[in-house]
Amino acid sequence: SRPLAIAPSILSADFSRLGAEVEAAAAAGADWIHLDIMDGHFVPNITFGPPVVKAIRPSTDKVFDCHLMIAPADPYIADFAEAGCDIITVHAEAGPHLHRSLQTIRKLGKKAGVALNPATPASAIQHVLDDVDLVLVMTVNPGFGGQAFIPAMVEKVRLVRAMIGERPIDIEVDGGIAPDTAGAIVEAGANVLVAGSAVFRGGAAAYARNIAAIREAA
Ligand code: DX5
Ligand code: ZN
Repeated sequence: SRPLAIAPSILSADFSRLGAEVEAAAAAGADWIHLDIMDGHFVPNITFGPPVVKAIRPSTDKVFDCHLMIAPADPYIADFAEAGCDIITVHAEAGPHLHRSLQTIRKLGKKAGVALNPATPASAIQHVLDDVDLVLVMTVNPGFGGQAFIPAMVEKVRLVRAMIGERPIDIEVDGGIAPDTAGAIVEAGANVLVAGSAVFRGGAAAYARNIAAIREAA
């Protein structure tokens, strides 16, 4: 299976000092940095766009893992690629032309991800598995940090893992990931763990301990 990666979500970081927070997460042992892009339409919350991604890009060399919770996504994919995203993940529910969105991301030289809301069946991505580098199984309803992990998603991860077979695809989970939930979801097949509130708590001095606790539980 693919290497484990911990991807702190800066949604729970201090937005007034975002560059310093990204640096602190990287220094604390983050493998990737997870960026949550929300449009107030696809999800009931608004975060930030390409100018903010660009502004924090110089703060680290870590992979920028960009989770687009926006619809439509296609008109903005090139802007996020130019801003410095390395992985661009679009939601399967965000539009009628998922395959085109994934092709657009790869044509820009970026890794393509597809995300599934909790109620969307694993089968929704069955016919795009050769077009993705990452599958993101949402373990909460997207929009906010600090929500409770949905246990039924463990079985979905198991299904996605089986569908992927030998393809070199990462399985990422996002929402409610903490030391108490990491073990079961990794056992089911996830290898990239997004965590917001479980990492950005207790002040910057605690981030390394918070990340290590998730890694040890995985
Ligand atoms: C939710 C976002 C997540 C969020 C996770 O819509 O996609 O990345 O930051 O937050 P926690 O880890 O606090 O559930
Ligand atoms: Zn996310």
